[in-house]
Order: sequence, then structure tokens, then C-alpha cells
Amino acid sequence: MDTVSFTRMEDGTAEDWALIETFEIVFYEGLPDRILAALDKLRDSFGGYQVTRYTHSLQAASRALRDGRDEEYVVSTLIHDIGDDLAPHTHGEMVAAILRPFVREELCWMVRHHGSFQLYFFGHLIGEDRDARERWREHANFDLTAEFCERYDQASFDPEYDTMPVDTFEPMVRRVFAQPRYLEPGDA
Ligand SMILES: [Fe+2]
Ligand SMILES: [Fe+2]
Repeated sequence: MDTVSFTRMEDGTAEDWALIETFEIVFYEGLPDRILAALDKLRDSFGGYQVTRYTHSLQAASRALRDGRDEEYVVSTLIHDIGDDLAPHTHGEMVAAILRPFVREELCWMVRHHGSFQLYFFGHLIGEDRDARERWREHANFDLTAEFCERYDQASFDPEYDTMPVDTFEPMVRRVFAQPRYLEPGDA
């Protein structure tokens, strides 16, 4: 048997769910490859900057790595914009959801809110509030997120910078996405 017996979940058996689990385990193992594929797809994201969204991501991660940031931070930085494709208006939220089982909460918060914090550097030029981040001034993760945007995100659009290749980061992606160590039971 390689499909379940049921057509409605309420009719499933323990054997059915054991079968599904065998497929899920194999599928979960492919997650790092899918993350890397989503990163690679940023080569085809919107243009206009002097570097692609792909190079921007690698460059931001290169700066974080050279600053001695830990692996969860570097990987969060590497993929912070992979939501561009499917969630162009809410990409931080999408990527935070991807990261949540795999990196500590403060990094998920940082990625979730980086778009608002990033406005500090250009919001006043596009008719938006550059101080949008101020609503979180008292939040425990304010400084972390402001620093991320200043040092890595807004600064990583430089074609002359010595951006590291994806090979540098691939083993980190595989380690960070190996186990959903931050996932709470019942949280799906
Ligand atoms: Fe972004
Ligand atoms: Fe970015």
C-alpha cells in the first residue's frame, strides 16, 4: 500500500498516518534544497538596483558572517528576502514563518519587521514614514532589528563589495534547517 485508505481525514487509521509520516520525513529532508532554490530564484526578482536581489542577499550574509555573527543569524540574513516572490507586500512575515522552527525567536522578530525598520533609510523619499519603526522603540528586539537593517540590509547593494559565494553558506543552511528545534508541540 502506498496511499492511505481514507478520502476524509476523520476516517483515517493509525496505519494510514504512519504511512503519511514516512513520506513527510523524506519531504522534510528536502527543505534545505528548497530554501536554496528559493534563494537562487532571487536572481530573477525585480531589477533597478546595481545588484540583483540574490547578490543583495549573499552580500548581507557575507557582512554578517565577517562581523562574527552566529550561524542562525547569518542564515536568517541570507534568506531574509526570499519572500519577495510570493509575498511582495508582506515578505518579512513570510520569511519569519519559514524561520520560526529553526532559529531563535528574536531573529524571527527581526526578519518579520525588517521592512518597517528599513524604511528609516528611504521612507521619506517615497512618501512613507521613515520613523515607522518607532512604534517598536521600547520592544526588546528594537536595537537588534535596527542594527540588522543598518549594518547588513540597507548597506548591501554594492557591486564592488567582495560578496561571498552561496557555497560558503550552503552548509550553514543545511545545519540550521536540519531540525525544527524551536517548534513547540502542537504548533503547526
Ligand atoms: Fe526585505
Ligand atoms: Fe534585504
